[in-house]
Amino acid sequence: MNAILGIDVGASGIKGALVDLEKGRLHGERFRVPTPRPSTPEAMAGAVGEIVDFFGYTGIVGCGFPSIVKNGMARSAANIDQTWIGANIEKIFGDATQTTFFATNDADAAGIAEMRFGMGKGEQGLVFLITIGTGLGTALFYKGMLVPNTELGHVMWKNGKSAELYCSSGARERLKISRKEWAGRFNEYLHHLERLFSPDLFILGGGESKFFDSYKELLTTNARVVPAKLLNNAGIIGAAAFAAEQ
Ligand code: BGC
Repeated sequence: MNAILGIDVGASGIKGALVDLEKGRLHGERFRVPTPRPSTPEAMAGAVGEIVDFFGYTGIVGCGFPSIVKNGMARSAANIDQTWIGANIEKIFGDATQTTFFATNDADAAGIAEMRFGMGKGEQGLVFLITIGTGLGTALFYKGMLVPNTELGHVMWKNGKSAELYCSSGARERLKISRKEWAGRFNEYLHHLERLFSPDLFILGGGESKFFDSYKELLTTNARVVPAKLLNNAGIIGAAAFAAEQ
């Protein structure tokens, strides 16, 4: 079996695991290190290096990163250090670990995994994968094809700010609101996306997807809403799948 290392860089934790791409699941344990603060490129490279060392890994690495990613470069920095804007993720992490990195947006990575191995498998309509964590990440698929870097966590919300400041997990924690109140807000957000895109399916990933059963009754869109089958590992698995395709 040919296992590829997938790394999911998040605003609060960086997680890695070897991924079996034939079975679409982790091969062994995952290893997590807290995201350094400030999350500068140098500090993040050190943390990513710990993960690569932990696995004693020398092959190609797939990396989901929480920003717009174009040609390996970060083009935004909503929940990470601003010095990432314009930085080459693949070069910085590759140089630090003496391996070859392939980087893509974290939500796009999770979406790739769910479309291939999870709840999106065989879905031909319009599908959104939404990662609910410190920020809100989105991946959009039509007939199985990804439209990369959609960034719909930043649709302008009621007060002119990003929607993610209203209904991400990060917002729930920061505003100290109950999960029920949060779910009401998130439902408004899903209805907004439904009005704009008429999706057939919403797949929810990220940390909040683990609690899906506790709030599913509060989500009332016409489109089906399901938790990611790969839950919080979708980002790791999709990052490895992305690397394997480059
Ligand atoms: C970023 C996205 C990312 C999402 C989830 C947002 O703030 O702009 O690029 O996918 O957070 O991490």
